[in-house]
Amino acid sequence: MPPDIPGAKRAGLPVDLDRLTAEGDEWLSPEERYALKMHGLCAQAQPGVFMVRVRVGGVLESDAARGLARIADDYAGGWIHLTTRQQVQLHHVHARDVTTVLGQIRRLGLTTRSTCGHTMRGVMSCPDAGIGLEEPFDCYPDARMLQDSILSRTPGLDTKMPQRINVAFGGCAACRDHARVNDLSFVSVVTPEGELGYECWIAGSLGKSTSMLGFKAIDFVPRAEVLAAGNALFNVHIEHSDFDQPGKGRLKFLVRRRGQEEVHRLFLEEFERTKLQDWPDPQPVSTPLSSSIAAVLARAPEGGWGSGVRPQRVPGWAMVTVNIPLGDLDTEDFRELASLADTVGDEHIYFTRNQNAMFRHVRIEEVPFVRTTLAALGLGLEDADQARDVRVCTGGPVCSLALTPAPRLGAELIHHAALARNAGLRVHVSGCPNSCAQHQIADVGFSGGRVTIAGTAMLGYQVWLGGDLRAGTIAEVVGRVSDSDVSAILSAIVGVWEALRERRETLSDTVARYGIEAFQAQIAAVFHGRWEPGPEPEPIVALDSLLVSDSRVPMVVGA
Ligand code: HEM
Ligand code: SF4
Repeated sequence: MPPDIPGAKRAGLPVDLDRLTAEGDEWLSPEERYALKMHGLCAQAQPGVFMVRVRVGGVLESDAARGLARIADDYAGGWIHLTTRQQVQLHHVHARDVTTVLGQIRRLGLTTRSTCGHTMRGVMSCPDAGIGLEEPFDCYPDARMLQDSILSRTPGLDTKMPQRINVAFGGCAACRDHARVNDLSFVSVVTPEGELGYECWIAGSLGKSTSMLGFKAIDFVPRAEVLAAGNALFNVHIEHSDFDQPGKGRLKFLVRRRGQEEVHRLFLEEFERTKLQDWPDPQPVSTPLSSSIAAVLARAPEGGWGSGVRPQRVPGWAMVTVNIPLGDLDTEDFRELASLADTVGDEHIYFTRNQNAMFRHVRIEEVPFVRTTLAALGLGLEDADQARDVRVCTGGPVCSLALTPAPRLGAELIHHAALARNAGLRVHVSGCPNSCAQHQIADVGFSGGRVTIAGTAMLGYQVWLGGDLRAGTIAEVVGRVSDSDVSAILSAIVGVWEALRERRETLSDTVARYGIEAFQAQIAAVFHGRWEPGPEPEPIVALDSLLVSDSRVPMVVGA
């Protein structure tokens, strides 16, 4: 039975954590399982164990990182997972250990409060903020203040939220693009008069249906009004989004129902009201470039600048990004990263939305040492040879909604020759239509589910082409294939692109220029009956009997 989520919220989301410790999880009702999400706990595909999501907000002190590693060793099989929203997850935590783990996480000064379910999810903040050349100023203190302001309204707030709200802060080009897939985004800007503040974008979201890019609601929110603007959006969501149908509860559905203009008006009116409340003052932050860019670039590290070693505003210092394949680390490597943060960084590990780890304030003379230390661990910098932009959801075997084993596929695709030839090609794989890996904004996206090929229903993938936030395009489904043909269709797609592209053109540019049909025609020429063009005609549904089964086995229709 699926949980009655609105009913559970009306009842105040009660769940007895002490009983979980004493008896394990078999007695939990579906509603109580939902309530556990408010504590950062998500049921896994396996009975009796939970995923624990920690709200780190994109940065961890090295001591806290070591603390998390210890907890992961003791209770989570020594596995640390970095998420695309810059948070950290532990998996396979036994029901009876949950309260101990939550207590230990709290003692590290961290929280799992409201990290799952219909809540304010992890608030993102650009890891470059305050030091990167493109970031106008440090948005982290404002992100943190808004997070704390909204969290102070929980747990009551969580009983009223119709659906989740994703919040992001940042002002670099990538953050500006990413702003459009969040419900609430603050894009850092500085006015010609030198005032610091944000453009405010709202109502963006991907999800399994009706992907929608957000729209700019306010041209300039001064830093002092960020809390008023953020709280106003939560108020509008609570007041007007669909509480009784969580499947239609995201803000984007409110925009569909009432129109962008009306939602915009509701937000601005509420903002006028919240501005009248008392809010704490923003903290002082570091401001723009102190040296000329030429002076900064003049002192390059050994090996030069690249996406793994990027210049800071002050000559002689670098931001160094470590490529963490699929965001997965063992605790030994996590501890090594913490030690590196102490030796060459600023005693913090930062997290990127590409599920990588980053050090700030590294002297350029130290970069070769970082490379050697990482190489000994089998890791490299973001621009190292093994770096591939493959983003994969946690999926099977841990996610209870998984239809296809996305991580296994991701691990295969990382070594794909087409990716080796084309650095920067973005491939995203979600194990079901829920889009945790955001397949709709990739050059090539895969979403797992039931597909029908040549009349046979089987588990496989819908293949999405041409997503590009910078160009403001969401991908379209080019066709569907069985799990065993994913690698082959990736070769075919990249082959067509390599044949058609003009110099420097991204795959999405080529799709935009020729249309998806050109790709379909070429794929059909290679695939003969092993694929179908276009999206699966009927909705892809989760069939219990198929959960995390081997997707290569064709499904018997009607069984
Ligand atoms: C393991 C258990 C997980 C479950 C059950 C789960 C479930 C879901 C569901 C149901 C949605 C769709 C929401 C909607 O349609 O409104 C979603 C979206 C999403 N999830 Fe997950 N998820 C899980 C793990 C993760 C992880 C580990 C990450 C990050 C690495 C993640 C990142 C996202 C993102 C970025 C979206 C898209 C949000 C948007 O743009 O609207 N999820 N997830
Ligand atoms: S995309 Fe689907 S399978 Fe993957 S983590 Fe999200 S809900 Fe689970």
